[in-house]
Amino acid sequence: MTLRLPVGVAGLLLLGCGGGEPTDAALNEAVASAEARARGRVLFEDRCRQCHGPNAAERTKGARQPPDFSATAWQHSRTPRMVYRAVRDGRPGTAMPGWKSLGDRALLDLVAYLKSRGPAHSVTAK
Ligand code: HEC
Repeated sequence: MTLRLPVGVAGLLLLGCGGGEPTDAALNEAVASAEARARGRVLFEDRCRQCHGPNAAERTKGARQPPDFSATAWQHSRTPRMVYRAVRDGRPGTAMPGWKSLGDRALLDLVAYLKSRGPAHSVTAK
């Protein structure tokens, strides 16, 4: 016999396991946290550096260039939530993979790190 859960219950369980998006407060808290930035940097070095460069600012060869995260224009045009979604889902049709499997804590840490690369640190979630 198989155990079947009503869809609503399954959805709640998913949310409980981090299936939902973080709140604005959680995003802002991560961006403001030196610990989150430090953890994000370690993750970035490990998983992202080969494409995004050692300072999150360099370009690699290829049709679609990764953006320069240290550029003022990039920082100002991307809210923490936009960065979160880009990291979680990747960019279909480009070399950028989705990183959902890292889990929510790691995604928030990566957002915190990337949002600390530019000249402006005080950006709030939208
Ligand atoms: C295999 C190469 C590759 C790896 C590995 C990679 N990226 Fe990317 N990334 C790209 C490319 C190429 C783009 C530009 C995609 C486009 O043109 O939209 C991109 C785009 C992005 C963007 C969207 C930028 C924007 O325009 O808003 C974010 C954020 C990002 N990457 C973060 C990360 C993080 C964090 C990691 C590691 C966990 C990572 N990337 C790993 C290649 C990569």
